Amino acid sequence: MDINLAILPGDGIGPEVVHAGMLVLEAVSAKYGHTLNTEENHIGGIAIDKTGTALPDETLKTCRDADAVLLGAVGGPKWDDPTAPVRPEQGLLGIRKSLELYANLRPIRSLPGSLEISPIRPERIAGVDLVVVRELTGGIYFGEPRHRQVVNNEVWAVDSMVYSASEIRRVAQLGFKLAQKRRKKLTSIDKANVLECSRLWREVVSDVASDYPDVKFEHNLVDAAAMYLISRPSTYDVILTGNMFGDILTDEASMLAGSMGLLPSASIGQIKNRLGFPLGLYEPIHGSAPDIAGRDIANPVGTILSIGMLFRNSLGLEEEAKDIENAVESTLASGARTADLNIGANEVLSTTEFTRVVIKFLTSV
Ligand code: IPM
Ligand code: MG
Repeated sequence: MDINLAILPGDGIGPEVVHAGMLVLEAVSAKYGHTLNTEENHIGGIAIDKTGTALPDETLKTCRDADAVLLGAVGGPKWDDPTAPVRPEQGLLGIRKSLELYANLRPIRSLPGSLEISPIRPERIAGVDLVVVRELTGGIYFGEPRHRQVVNNEVWAVDSMVYSASEIRRVAQLGFKLAQKRRKKLTSIDKANVLECSRLWREVVSDVASDYPDVKFEHNLVDAAAMYLISRPSTYDVILTGNMFGDILTDEASMLAGSMGLLPSASIGQIKNRLGFPLGLYEPIHGSAPDIAGRDIANPVGTILSIGMLFRNSLGLEEEAKDIENAVESTLASGARTADLNIGANEVLSTTEFTRVVIKFLTSV
């Protein structure tokens, strides 16, 4: 079949890991007889340099017309001034909002090698297999009013946490449907003892839960959940939470896998692509890592596994998705390691060399 992708390499190590991902995409497409059509565009810092805005109209149009979007990373020291009127992160927040990508899926599993490099004791992380469903287009990230003002000679800054019942409902439904396909457990995380938004969150999620009686369901307060994620992470299956809590908890949870470089993500929403599947944005959860950019040492696994999620969620091609995931696992199980995964015992492979091993496993079965 024809696969039409928008490719947004972005900044820092973004272009390197996306290039590695493209090699895998080409290999999978050849193996299964798909025709891959890609269109590359700018986002983030590089887009600011070229066009003056972090999310040019042309980029957005390419993404809307595609079956899915593959993104590397945005940001870097060159554009780091937080008071600048245009910033790379606006590209990311803008694309999430414009494509109505309200659900961000971040699966976290221990992979071969995780036990050695995770800072958490092996017996605690053995068997970790969870997915965070983070609400992505609401909450304090987008709430109004947001501004600075001077009152009584003092500067005040205002951000607003805002959620509507329907915003909570749609992401909760997606979370419960996902739980039904997994181990049938969902934990909703909020701060209902303090925040009004969280009280509404709890009410709506509990209401949605009654439509999914086969899913075991519980609430956690976010501070306690931050602790349980370390003390008993394997008890989680699907975690459902708001935008900011999800941002923070997924960085914490990444340490269960050992390296941020291993972790993929999918952002999906309302809009359907030409195939009838959700138009999605797929990106590794690591950032642009400017300190290691351009050296061919970044870990491509997060990007490659994101491509697996792309095949599953936006193309409906489960076999290809599994094949990509198996190739990554075989590569790690064979002892291949990028620098971030190295504990001194292994030979360290470059991004390119590691990707070559993944492709070898992909094409040999
Ligand atoms: C993430 C990132 C972004 C976020 C930043 C870069 C705006 O941290 O995707 O988790 O906060 O959502
Ligand atoms: Mg984050």
